[in-house]
Amino acid sequence: MTRARKRILGVGIATLDIINQLAEYPPEDAEVRAVAHYRARGGNAANSLAMLAQYGHHCHWCGTLADDVSSDWIRAELARQGITIMLDTRCANTTTPTSYIVLSQASGSRTIVHYRDLPELDAAAFNSVALADFDWVHFEGRQPRETAQMLARVRTACPTAQISVELEKPRPDLELLFDGPDGLLISRAYAQALGFKQPEAFLRNLAARTSAAWLVLGWGAAGAYYWTAAGECGAVPAYQPDQILDTLGAGDCLNAAVIDGQLRGLDLATTVARAVRLAGFKCGYLGFDGVVNAAESVM
Ligand code: FRU
Repeated sequence: MTRARKRILGVGIATLDIINQLAEYPPEDAEVRAVAHYRARGGNAANSLAMLAQYGHHCHWCGTLADDVSSDWIRAELARQGITIMLDTRCANTTTPTSYIVLSQASGSRTIVHYRDLPELDAAAFNSVALADFDWVHFEGRQPRETAQMLARVRTACPTAQISVELEKPRPDLELLFDGPDGLLISRAYAQALGFKQPEAFLRNLAARTSAAWLVLGWGAAGAYYWTAAGECGAVPAYQPDQILDTLGAGDCLNAAVIDGQLRGLDLATTVARAVRLAGFKCGYLGFDGVVNAAESVM
């Protein structure tokens, strides 16, 4: 597919991911050897930006960073992945948010132990970001009161930008972000934490409480579900790779491909079908580098 260059801003966390690949998930108190070990720059919005840069977009990131050496590495990795840092508020006496991740080869699961003592980006700091000319602004729904203010500023300063918000985990006041964005990107973990077992029931419930024009809900190995204010809704079954190798960030891939599809003007059904294929392909692919080209070459 041809490269469509748009200007995208992602607002979220950037992490150090320390990844151990194991033959299988270990029992508690075991001592086991890793099959492979590497580090990666993580964080949902930043991961999505890495994929959006591969789709050819001009990607920009805003967030906070710690004042340690890992944050220098995170900066370098963002640059290597083609992501411009618009704002990286450096917080004194903090540690880079670090995820200790076990990838199980047997099940394909990715278990994440996350440590953070870094403050989130606030609306006052975001006020210094030049917002003109963005085609899309994507937020992680992490601290809703601040994010709602940032979202309102984007609407005023850059009225033509489309806005998406990720709902990944339940957080106090998250419903403040139901009004304002064009689209919501939702994880299964969020829907399930609210007690929904059926994705369609969750979407019906959320649809009645949001002003967003579309909703996309990832459902892991069962693919994804979508809804539009125009009355479209549907489900796309998952794409199954030959072997599950690395499910870390599959949801971030889904989100990136939804944003890319919408920026290309595809209808939501086509957008979600492409996104599910990229996310499924990624589960059979280690890391993110080159994943978009690799997925497009086999699909
Ligand atoms: C994957 C991910 C990791 C990061 C963690 C943060 O979606 O962004 O890269 O360590 O989630 O919650």
